[in-house]
Parts: sequence; C-alpha cells; structure tokens
Amino acid sequence: MSLSLRHRPRRLRTRAAVRDLVREHLVTPSDLVQPLFVQAGEGPDEAIASMPGQARLSEPRLVEEAARAWAAGVRAVALFPRIDDALKTEDGREAWNPEGLIPRIVRRLHAEVPGLAVIGDVALDPYSSLGQDGIVVDGEIANDLTVEGLVRQARCQAEAGVDVVAPSDMMDGRVGAIRDALDADGHTDTLILAYSAKYASAFYGPFRDALDSAPRGGGDKRTYQMDPGNGDEALHEVGLDLDEGADIVMVKPGLPYLDVLWRLKEAYGRPMAVYQVSGEYAMLEAAGRNGWIDRDACIRETLLSFKRAGADLILTYHATEAAERLLTRW
Ligand code: PBG
Repeated sequence: MSLSLRHRPRRLRTRAAVRDLVREHLVTPSDLVQPLFVQAGEGPDEAIASMPGQARLSEPRLVEEAARAWAAGVRAVALFPRIDDALKTEDGREAWNPEGLIPRIVRRLHAEVPGLAVIGDVALDPYSSLGQDGIVVDGEIANDLTVEGLVRQARCQAEAGVDVVAPSDMMDGRVGAIRDALDADGHTDTLILAYSAKYASAFYGPFRDALDSAPRGGGDKRTYQMDPGNGDEALHEVGLDLDEGADIVMVKPGLPYLDVLWRLKEAYGRPMAVYQVSGEYAMLEAAGRNGWIDRDACIRETLLSFKRAGADLILTYHATEAAERLLTRW
C-alpha cells in the first residue's frame, strides 16, 4: 500500500550526496579556538587527571601546540596560566607583571606563530591566593576594586600584544573600564571578547584542577557568576557588555546553555562565542574512553549543536584534534 503523500521529508535524506547538499550548518576549523594551559619553565608536559589528553605545558611546548593548532586551521588560542603558588597573593598582582608568564609567552607566540590570534584571559583567579576572580575585602569580592586590577591586567596583556582580551571574571562594569583604558593607551584595535553570560557552574571542576585555582575561601563564586536558573538575565548582561564596547560576547558553559546561546543570537545578532568547558570535555572523554559512546561522533555532534544554536566561534579543548581529523566526515 502506498500513502498519497505530497510531503515526504525523507526524500532529502535518502542519499548522502543530497544530505550533504541540504545540510544547514557545518563546523570548520576556523570556527574553533583552542584553550591551552601554560606554566613557567621548560619541563615536561604535566598531565591533568580530570582532563585526559590535556596537559599543563611548558613555555616551549605551548608554542609547539599553538603552532600545531594554527597549522590545522584553528585561528586562535586562549591562554590560561598555572602560576607558582609563591607568586599568588590576595590581590593577584602578578596578573599585571609585564615580565610575567603570559606577557612573555604572548611575545613569543607573535614571533614564532605569526598570524595566530592570541586571546588573553582577564581574571585574577590563577593569581589569587584565594582562587577568586577578584580582590577580596572583608570576605567578599569587591567589584570596583577588582575592576581596577582587571584594567591593569588587560593593559599589560595588550601591551604585550594579545589580539583579544577576554574578561572571564563577571564583575560589573569591567568591559567599559577596559575599553576606555585600552583606547587611552592607543590599543584601539585590541578586541574584547566578554564572558557575558558566565554561569556559576559545576562543570568548571577539571579546569580548577588544571590551574590549582579552586576557591580557598574569600567568598562564593555565585555572588558574581550567573545563577543557572536564569535566562532573561543573560539578555541583560549581554546588552550591558555590548553597550560597554564588547566586540564578541560569550556563553559558558556550552551544552547545558544552548537555549541561552540561541536567545542571545536571535536578540542581538552580534558575534557570539560559546565555551565547551572542562567538565563537558571530561564527560565526553570518560564515556568515550570506556567505549560507552562513539567519542569522535559525539564530539562532532556537540560542536555542530553550537553552530546550529548560533555560535560563530567555539572554545573547545578538542579544537586542534577536531580541525586535524574530526571535521572531515558528517
Ligand atoms: C575563571 C575561569 C574558569 C574557567 C575559565 N575561566 C573557572 C571558574 O570560573 O572558576 C573555566 C573553563 C573550563 O572549565 O573549561 N576566570
């Protein structure tokens, strides 16, 4: 028996060639940003137990991995420093040391991997003896005092030559303050990628292992990162950051917040980034390494979901591998 159907959507799915022709979204290497962890010195890679496949890299190894990402077609790396405990203080002042680890490595990357866009993280947690993104006064993260520190850090990174500063701290007013300071210094072309809708998420656990940056008192990250129950508030946060001069705005984490990403792209139509964070990476790797899921296909599918939801760029620990070998088959 045959139904008399005018519409048979399956016609578009019958052959691979047709599926390829009508596919609405794809991920390409140039959509991807590789986050990298770096520590001072020339030692061997230090594995991160909760992020199998990722490591804390020495300075020369960081340059190698950045060059590998660039060669694979990845256009940017995001740098996260693991700072020696001896350099951590309550005000995180190592964050604006012009001879510090990040300025040093940025200068090296520009010399050795020209063309690659370098994204500097602006937040104090890697430098804070309390593991907080800001400066603590009387047991609370003091917003305005922290913004002064973040401005110093952003100026220091711009001076060293980062292409993009990326405030990941969630203090109020930091984007405008950073834009004003960079412009006053003549860094009018340094972009700001704002972590605008950054949620207080349990999915950051492995990242804090990587940097030894878990909070050790001084307050609660929920007093600055967003509540996972809120969607409308993301519209407000992004609106403010765009008004203050953000060039690209970000949602973080990724998969649990695809709805937020979609709403923001619909509402603003501006360049949007998403961060597939360490806990998401850990889940994919754990299930994949156990043989419980088809790891490569699941990674591809998650990356595609970000594009479909409206992301223009995706920060993912799988960036280089995806660019090298995962994006060839859909
Ligand atoms: C902090 C920062 C965090 C991440 C990036 N920047 C963690 C936090 O807010 O505690 C998490 C990234 C990841 O989990 O992959 N400035």
